[in-house]
Amino acid sequence: MADVKAEVLEGLLGPAKTLHPKYFYDEQGSRLFEAITRLPEYYLTRSELEIFDAHLSDISSRVPGQSCIVEYGSGSSLKIRKVIEELDPAAYVPVDISREHMVAMAEALARDFPDLAIYPTCADFTDTFALPPPVAGLTKVGFFPGSSIGNFSPADAVGFLQRMAKTLGAGARLIIGVDLKKDPAVLEAAYDDAAGVTAEFNLNLIRHLGEVLHADLNPDRFRHRAVYNESLGAVQMFLDVRDSHDVLIGDRLVHFEAGEAIHTENSFKYDPADFLELVAGAGFAEVAGWTDRKGWFSVFLLEVAG
Ligand code: AVI
Repeated sequence: MADVKAEVLEGLLGPAKTLHPKYFYDEQGSRLFEAITRLPEYYLTRSELEIFDAHLSDISSRVPGQSCIVEYGSGSSLKIRKVIEELDPAAYVPVDISREHMVAMAEALARDFPDLAIYPTCADFTDTFALPPPVAGLTKVGFFPGSSIGNFSPADAVGFLQRMAKTLGAGARLIIGVDLKKDPAVLEAAYDDAAGVTAEFNLNLIRHLGEVLHADLNPDRFRHRAVYNESLGAVQMFLDVRDSHDVLIGDRLVHFEAGEAIHTENSFKYDPADFLELVAGAGFAEVAGWTDRKGWFSVFLLEVAG
């Protein structure tokens, strides 16, 4: 809580206000994100599933036998189930900071895949962490779907992927989903849906931090906004202050000025060639890549260069 307060105050007392997107995902935020993935405007999940349905057998044929899938974040059980069914790995290592959700998912998977060795690993996957010793002899297959890589800046993505390459080891594979550049209207609608679910998701950050920090942060005093920043190549989400007010956070009074914006998230979009250049800088080489029929989303199979 002291760490959270210090980080939040640092973000809110600077010249341009910002809050870290990791605070989206309390229980309510995770539920709202699940709802986002089913929205008509949020094509990312559907496009990636379309690619998996069409190409997982091809992906599987390019992965050596006796593999161990290492999932970065234990997200959608639908995706990992498809991957496990097709790749038939010897072991599965979900890595997540939040133990509860991960263990519940692992237990459900263990019931349905009784021959699969599952080693839930509680760690911040953006940092360095050790893989469980029993998987040492297996070929690692990293799994990082959903364009979660887009929530890192390109520079941070390189650092993160370098750590991943080191953890997985030479010869390992990585299955990674990445959202592609496209018509800004399509991008902006995906992050500002008609039903207002993404707005609720963004505003939930205020409610959640108010609760954690015992501060009078009121979501009604903010408005959701999402814009595609063409020069950055990212959809940016903001919370705009509706009316000027002050909030006591710990022992600091934070002023919110009407019209001022709090930046809450970047979601980077890539051209395939630029993405492959980025991963090459982190020590990965392309094995193969696929897109959905509309060409809106890509899944790449990469290999840790030796
Ligand atoms: C988790 N991540 C890939 C989502 C995205 O598309 O950047 C988070 C999200 N933010 C708003 N809608 C979805």
